[in-house]
Amino acid sequence: MAEFMTRPKMLVSGGLGFLGSEIAKNFFQEYAITIIDNLSTNVVSIDDLKDICGEITYRNMDLAKLSKVDLDWLNTELNDTTIFCHFAAAVGVKKIDQSPREAIINENKINHDLLPLLAKYKTKTIFASSSEVYGNQENCVEDQSLQIGPPDILRWGYACNKLMTEFLLKSYEIPHITLRLFNVTGPRQSSKYGMVIPKMIRDAIKTGKITIYGDGTQTRSFCHISDLIGSLKYLIEQDKFTNQTINIGNDQNRVTIEELAHLIKDTLKLDVEIEKIAFNDEYSANSKDILKRSPSIEKLKQFYRPQVKLKAIIEDIAKSYE
Ligand SMILES: NC(=O)c1ccc[n+]([C@@H]2O[C@H](COP(=O)([O-])OP(=O)(O)OC[C@H]3O[C@@H](n4cnc5c(N)ncnc54)[C@H](O)[C@@H]3O)[C@@H](O)[C@H]2O)c1
Repeated sequence: MAEFMTRPKMLVSGGLGFLGSEIAKNFFQEYAITIIDNLSTNVVSIDDLKDICGEITYRNMDLAKLSKVDLDWLNTELNDTTIFCHFAAAVGVKKIDQSPREAIINENKINHDLLPLLAKYKTKTIFASSSEVYGNQENCVEDQSLQIGPPDILRWGYACNKLMTEFLLKSYEIPHITLRLFNVTGPRQSSKYGMVIPKMIRDAIKTGKITIYGDGTQTRSFCHISDLIGSLKYLIEQDKFTNQTINIGNDQNRVTIEELAHLIKDTLKLDVEIEKIAFNDEYSANSKDILKRSPSIEKLKQFYRPQVKLKAIIEDIAKSYE
């Protein structure tokens, strides 16, 4: 207990989610971890996380609906927090498709209440932004023009939210690093909300069928969670990239969705049917698919080279279904 209290404090919003929980697991030896999560899409329980990390502080809190008590608690916590990893959000194309208005409004409310506190204490903030802000583009570079579709397609509200938070972090002069994440995946990522590799693997194993939405020529580049953690280890310890934006992804793992389906089938060595259906047979008119997406990671490579190849990512996720 005493030793826990002397470590610098790291607060992780969304800390029971896929990425947030991996951050807790990988940084608990150096930091006293506090987690905020509203249990909306969490993939681990606080008890499971405590089994791995030992002592950890947890607050079941919805950042979009903060009470006076919550705000007072945050005020006290942030006073001596060294790093705030802001990873709480409604995530997944399916989730946004099901309740786009809620996702847009909630992110606004979070920004309204949380960011002034981060500004007050000048808390170093690692913000999980998204490759969605680049729209339909490949080889995306951090300082290039961004591309967001029209408000008629509510899906774009997710990218708009991420971008607005990026602007607000700078407006409030909060010391920050913005990570634009390109399809970070791994064991325990939920298959429920449209994350393609866990979904294809689960469907292949459970139903013997992989479904491709659209013609399968859409491109994505997949990055293993360990490569996000590897880059974070550097970014959290160094001040070199403060107030900058960095793409986190793996440019070597770029595939079309059809190639991905076949790679999963071949890797799992299962008799799997691959079918194609129209994107909007699965998703509402609020959603439109992104056709091209891959990162330029020249900036990331200044300090970290992603290592895990796509086939190894598939094998790693498949193991978690055994
Ligand atoms: N995984 C990726 O490839 C990827 C890509 C781009 C951006 N991101 C961003 O990274 C972050 C984490 O993503 P993830 O893949 O771990 O998703 P996730 O759904 O597994 O984790 C999000 C966590 O946040 C919690 N949460 C949601 N809304 C909340 C609220 N209002 N208050 C408190 N907790 C709340 C959920 O319960 C969940 O545990 C998100 O901000 C997401 O937008 C992820």
